[in-house]
Amino acid sequence: MLLLLQLTIIILTFISHENKAIAQYVPPYSSVVVPLHKHTDAAKPLYSVEIVTAYVNMQYLHANFLIDLDAPFVWHDCIIQWNIYPGSCPANTLCTSPVSCEEYQCTDVRASYSYTNPSCSPPNNDSTLPGWGYCTCPVTVVDPVTGSCGQAMLNYDEFTVNPNAACAPSSAFQSFPKNVTGVMALSSSPYALPASLFEPLKKVMGLCLPSTLSTSGVLFYGNSNYSLLPQKDVDVRSYLSYTPLIKHPDSFGYFIGVNSIVIKTRSIGIPANATTKISTLEPYTVLRTDIYNPVIRRFSMVTKRIPPAKAVPPFGLCFSTQVGLRVPDIDFNLPEGKKWTISSTNSIKQVTPDVACLALVDGGATSEHAIVIGTFQMEDNFVVFNLENSTFGFSSSLLRKKTSCSNFNFTLVDSF
Ligand SMILES: *[C@@H]1O[C@H](CO)[C@@H](O)[C@H](O)[C@H]1NC(C)=O
Ligand SMILES: *[C@@H]1O[C@H](CO)[C@@H](O)[C@H](O)[C@H]1NC(C)=O
Ligand SMILES: *[C@@H]1O[C@H](CO)[C@@H](O)[C@H](O)[C@H]1NC(C)=O
Ligand SMILES: *[C@@H]1O[C@H](CO)[C@@H](O)[C@H](O)[C@H]1NC(C)=O
Ligand SMILES: *[C@@H]1O[C@H](CO)[C@@H](O)[C@H](O)[C@H]1NC(C)=O
Ligand SMILES: *[C@@H]1O[C@H](CO)[C@@H](O)[C@H](O)[C@H]1NC(C)=O
Repeated sequence: MLLLLQLTIIILTFISHENKAIAQYVPPYSSVVVPLHKHTDAAKPLYSVEIVTAYVNMQYLHANFLIDLDAPFVWHDCIIQWNIYPGSCPANTLCTSPVSCEEYQCTDVRASYSYTNPSCSPPNNDSTLPGWGYCTCPVTVVDPVTGSCGQAMLNYDEFTVNPNAACAPSSAFQSFPKNVTGVMALSSSPYALPASLFEPLKKVMGLCLPSTLSTSGVLFYGNSNYSLLPQKDVDVRSYLSYTPLIKHPDSFGYFIGVNSIVIKTRSIGIPANATTKISTLEPYTVLRTDIYNPVIRRFSMVTKRIPPAKAVPPFGLCFSTQVGLRVPDIDFNLPEGKKWTISSTNSIKQVTPDVACLALVDGGATSEHAIVIGTFQMEDNFVVFNLENSTFGFSSSLLRKKTSCSNFNFTLVDSF
């Protein structure tokens, strides 16, 4: 029973006959794929996964949750309400049961697995539910779009194995892209999705962000064969180079080491104590000023022939050019001689029909992390978080391999 409930999160919406899907994912299955969408109707570009949140009135409820590699737990738009007797939950609504403030999960989440934003006031125990009498467990959430503090209630959610997520009111999602009503925590926290998956799945998470709104990218779990059209016989994992994933004591997110940034043979050194974080919320890679400045200097040097344009914030270096500008690669040199190559499609953002900018942002002199790799640089790159062996795999641009993140054939999923 628990198996099936938990599986609802990964039952894929591209399958119209869901009952078949359930049967198909009863273990032993070795991988799961979820369609992933890009949104540009919020303050910044964001990405969501489409999941099934519940089975209500003989129907699956679908929802889109923002992908967040840092969030300590999953939270979404739901109603906290005992739904044990018929009619206690409004029709076609997702109702869940509250965790009490006296329970272990409440203390654990609040003490160790909460958002750590010093500007948020700590949650209190004031809230009670009508007819329940006990205190509920409010937890702090931070809006990934605006950075503002909010509150959600920890609950027993049906769709995770480790059965806690938090409910926030619909108003908490106003800044989100349209029709996105939750945050899917993909971090290393025990209350995030990876920890709640089954053994073979939880160890490997792959992410392929699409560059367009009209097509789906793919999130997958499990160490399995994946192919992208038209290369039916190529396992995309063969495109990957690997580098160690580094733990950071104050974060549930994912970090790698970067030794230097190389542009046309000139190397810009990165301080040894610098941290490089991978982010699905930061739209463009952010460099601390001491790294940003020499990178911009070098990049303008190697693009001297391209007519400049007035800088368009948040970018500092722009060009007068039409679509399709080609520029030298930017190589992130990683330990053990590995190299993540950022080519034109991932370095140049067309901001108007006549102006394109280098899609890097100055993070200021004292930014917490020296480098935060943002989503523009990851689009149409296939990346894999191997949580068992603590490695991070990256393909560099798939366009150079004549495929893209939008080329996963979801109708093939039966054969996995
Ligand atoms: C909102 O998202 C759900 C789940 O992906 C989808 O089924 C529904 O059609 C979407 N609604 C609109 C108005 O886009
Ligand atoms: C909430 O209640 C729990 C259990 O009684 C207690 O341990 C905790 O300190 C309380 N928290 C606050 C913020 O009052
Ligand atoms: C992976 O795919 C290749 C090409 O289709 C195939 O030859 C190979 O047997 C597959 N491996 C597994 C483990 O399925
Ligand atoms: C990193 O190293 C530099 C130079 O050695 C030092 O000034 C700086 O304080 C260090 N930063 C951190 C976060 O340790
Ligand atoms: C981790 O590394 C070991 C040894 O190289 C390998 O056998 C195992 O398959 C790896 N696990 C995953 C999930 O990649
Ligand atoms: C995707 O897979 C299905 C099922 O195998 C196949 O019928 C279809 O032709 C494939 N689509 C493309 C574009 O290859």
